[in-house]
Amino acid sequence: MTLTSREIHLVRRPAGAATPDDFALREAEVRDPAEGEVTVRNSFLSVDPYMRGRMNDVKSYVPPFELGKVMQGGAVGRVVASRDPAFPEGALVASGYGWREAFTAKAASLQPLPDLGVSDSAHLGVLGMPGMTAWAGVTLVAPVQEGDVAFVSAASGAVGSIAGQLARVLGASRVVGSAGAEEKCRAVESDFGFDACFSYRDGSPLHRLREAAPDGIDHYFDNVGGAQLNAALVHARNHGRFALCGSISSGYDGSAGEPVTALGLAVGKRLMLKGFIVSDFTDQQQRFWDEVGSLVADKTVTYRETVFDGIQTMTEAFLGLFAGGGQIGKVVVAV
Ligand SMILES: NC(=O)c1ccc[n+]([C@@H]2O[C@H](COP(=O)([O-])OP(=O)(O)OC[C@H]3O[C@@H](n4cnc5c(N)ncnc54)[C@H](OP(=O)(O)O)[C@@H]3O)[C@@H](O)[C@H]2O)c1
Repeated sequence: MTLTSREIHLVRRPAGAATPDDFALREAEVRDPAEGEVTVRNSFLSVDPYMRGRMNDVKSYVPPFELGKVMQGGAVGRVVASRDPAFPEGALVASGYGWREAFTAKAASLQPLPDLGVSDSAHLGVLGMPGMTAWAGVTLVAPVQEGDVAFVSAASGAVGSIAGQLARVLGASRVVGSAGAEEKCRAVESDFGFDACFSYRDGSPLHRLREAAPDGIDHYFDNVGGAQLNAALVHARNHGRFALCGSISSGYDGSAGEPVTALGLAVGKRLMLKGFIVSDFTDQQQRFWDEVGSLVADKTVTYRETVFDGIQTMTEAFLGLFAGGGQIGKVVVAV
């Protein structure tokens, strides 16, 4: 079997915002599998904000992407040739081999995926890494408690849309979100059931948060850092809990980002702020699938996806994460 695969390489490290010129589309031959290997034809590729951080040549919790190599990242696909009986042809697998249509790799490096009655793409979103991040944040890292007023930033996105819905399941009395446009906010309210959502681009985030949660907040799921983290610190009630998940407004492009100046308030308010990385919780994978899988199956938790078509759209899909585009829910690319 001779299979060719188109793939996207990182060809330049961006200074500031990434641009299309940082990437190049190439074609490669996919070799046949050796003993213990499989060949996988991907169906969906993931674009995620953390990938921008890995384009910088700096030390972090994961190594930087290599120049001249394929952009790494999550993907789902089907085994099309196998020399490992545990991964038969047709098996659905998740991988971390990134922005390419097909590849051959050791079967042991892949994650076999259970049949949870969802589309393949959902394993990159609600039942994949972003969904698990949301679930870990509100259950394990900074647990939402009965009666909490919860605030979630980037609420229309892959993680935020699920975090808000899970906060409700855990007993939050009011769930407030923020997003970059009023149109996105209407989807946060109507599709994901938040009580209120405000655009952080329209007025000061603190003022808008006060309007949306007049009595203060107990829980903050922080996807963005910067001005919205400041607003949450100022507006938090005593003993509030913050799950620090991401800081997309600050520093993914290597810049200093928006300063967080209100941290001192955490002392008097006895706040708990905890950062986390989803890979800390890989031993909880089955529990996540069981709990969130059943919430998705009975439609307690709903999800949306923005699907781009074809590997040539990868760069556009990725850059849209930072450009305040119209995408809602998990952004994936069908290949
Ligand atoms: N800790 C972990 O293990 C972990 C795992 C996964 C993700 N994360 C983090 O979680 C956050 C959300 O990730 P995701 O995958 O769900 O992405 P996403 O929310 O689907 O997409 C990113 C969103 O961030 C918003 N954004 C972009 N620039 C912004 C800015 N300057 N200020 C405020 N918002 C901005 C955009 O929405 P608007 O148009 O609404 O601005 C964009 O749609 C990211 O910070 C990511 O790095 C952390």
